[in-house]
Amino acid sequence: MMSQFPVLTIDGPAGSGKGTIAEQVAKALGWHMLDSGALYRLVAIAAQKKNISFDDDKNLTALAKKLDAVFVPCEIGGIEVRLEDEDVTLAIRTEDCGRMASQVAANKGVRKALLQRQRDYLVSPGLVADGRDMGTVVFPNATAKVFLTASAEERAKRRFNQLNEKGVDVSLAGLIIDIQERDLRDMSRTEAPMVAASDAITIDTSRLSIEAVVEQVLALVAKNQ
Ligand code: DC
Repeated sequence: MMSQFPVLTIDGPAGSGKGTIAEQVAKALGWHMLDSGALYRLVAIAAQKKNISFDDDKNLTALAKKLDAVFVPCEIGGIEVRLEDEDVTLAIRTEDCGRMASQVAANKGVRKALLQRQRDYLVSPGLVADGRDMGTVVFPNATAKVFLTASAEERAKRRFNQLNEKGVDVSLAGLIIDIQERDLRDMSRTEAPMVAASDAITIDTSRLSIEAVVEQVLALVAKNQ
């Protein structure tokens, strides 16, 4: 079924620049944004709080179904993420939470529970959806599909610089290993593995500026509309 509103899907591995590109493209188009990774991160945090193990299919699924989370745009810019009325904006962005989200995301029931919730984000005038399976599973009829890649070293370097700027002390070698482990888990799971949709345009962002990628993506949307 073709949706009445346009949707651009941006999939790819951790650190490929998806979040930044999705945000800038959404702003340029005036479309809404779905950060689907945040939903998996929220399920992971909620599970941790309630002491539910990451392979407890039944309880994780129930948790994902009734996930009480909201994204509130802030007046000064950015989005505040609230879980059961608690501000978890920063808590969901840690490396640990990313690793936990990747484990939770391998769970079939959790993915199914979040499917309709993600589709409900598609409202007028359009949506930019960022994740791993946006173009393959959640929005297979998307107007335009992009798959962003970059070498694991380049992605780890970007994360290293981001964390350094925030004053967080991390090792680059450790980040490379983390990224490789997460890629492997996201690509090899049986449920909705991370893969480029057959009709997606793959862009290697290793040597491209953010502006250059945004420009290419906007051109693709304009062409497909
Ligand atoms: O994009 P991110 O780093 O916030 O995503 C965190 C984890 O969530 C990622 O390692 C795998 C999972 N995820 C997923 O399985 N499907 C999505 N559409 C988005 C994220």
